[in-house]
Amino acid sequence: MAEQSANETKKRIFSAVKPTGNPTLGNYLGAMRHWGSMSDEFDCLFAVADLHAITVAIEPKELRENTKRLFALLIAVGIDPEKNIVFLQSHVRAHAELGWLLNNYTMFGEARRMTQFKEKSQKTPENVNVGLFDYPVLMAADILLYQTDVVPVGDDQLQHVELCRNIAERFNGRYSPTFKVPEGRTPKVGARIYSLLDPTSKMGKSDANDAGSVFILDPPDVIARKFKRAVTDSEARIVASPDKKGITNLLNIYAATAGVTVEQAQSEFADSDYATFKTRVGEAVIETLAPVQKKYAELRADDGELMRLMRSGAERAERIAARTLEKVYKKIGFVRG
Ligand code: TRP
Repeated sequence: MAEQSANETKKRIFSAVKPTGNPTLGNYLGAMRHWGSMSDEFDCLFAVADLHAITVAIEPKELRENTKRLFALLIAVGIDPEKNIVFLQSHVRAHAELGWLLNNYTMFGEARRMTQFKEKSQKTPENVNVGLFDYPVLMAADILLYQTDVVPVGDDQLQHVELCRNIAERFNGRYSPTFKVPEGRTPKVGARIYSLLDPTSKMGKSDANDAGSVFILDPPDVIARKFKRAVTDSEARIVASPDKKGITNLLNIYAATAGVTVEQAQSEFADSDYATFKTRVGEAVIETLAPVQKKYAELRADDGELMRLMRSGAERAERIAARTLEKVYKKIGFVRG
């Protein structure tokens, strides 16, 4: 009961991640490693946005494996499935249902302006499907079902949260207050992590064989090798500077994983050569990821338990979502028995 009343005063966070690609060290340092502690301050829901993953062609096997991997990984990075609600989007039917309903309160013109839709349409012109277009409306449903206060997202998703706010306001105005109008927040955490081979571009999660990306689940020897091959320059000075992007990226990674500042890292390696430095960065990363990998292996060793966690998360999410959905049906004028 005490927990109940404490929860009521906490603001609610909803976030979701698509099970596409393979989460990287960049995802971990930039966002995922902070998610576990958010439940101290917020009432948190985390979903694996599997329904969103099919807007781009994906093999059934890959969708299945990516989904299980991401669900287990969310818990492995520290999201306690008791203190938080962790679930698969497709396990709570209210998401697809509210998505349909909200389509009718979303204007074609505003959806057409979404930058991500335009970019993805250009990238895969052979598969510009309606789901891709409708993607942000389903995302609005995800958020609005839970009367969410805050949505932590990357910069690229802020426009979608803005659309979500517009849909909520439009619906509330047309009927009566139904949805909480959420706030999008881009967390200012950590340094941006770039590719080890091309430090001008972000560490990508899509190319599984990318030697420039370190994946959270890469085995230690693979991580060590990727750092050994990281591009640097011919100067042999370990300092952060705009014209030393490779070294700066490595210093940022070291600082974030060894728990020191970039300045401390620079003085620590003042007398080292690049090879030694790169080895040490790799070691710091391996050490940081070890507990995550251990927890992940435990979770993946027991599929029954993983399914049980998924079901329990979905049941808890469902209870909240059902209330909002029922209200929406009634307000629109659907006959409910
Ligand atoms: N579109 C988000 C992304 O690509 C994932 C997502 C789906 C999401 N539904 C959401 C994020 C709801 C926040 C809230 O990153």
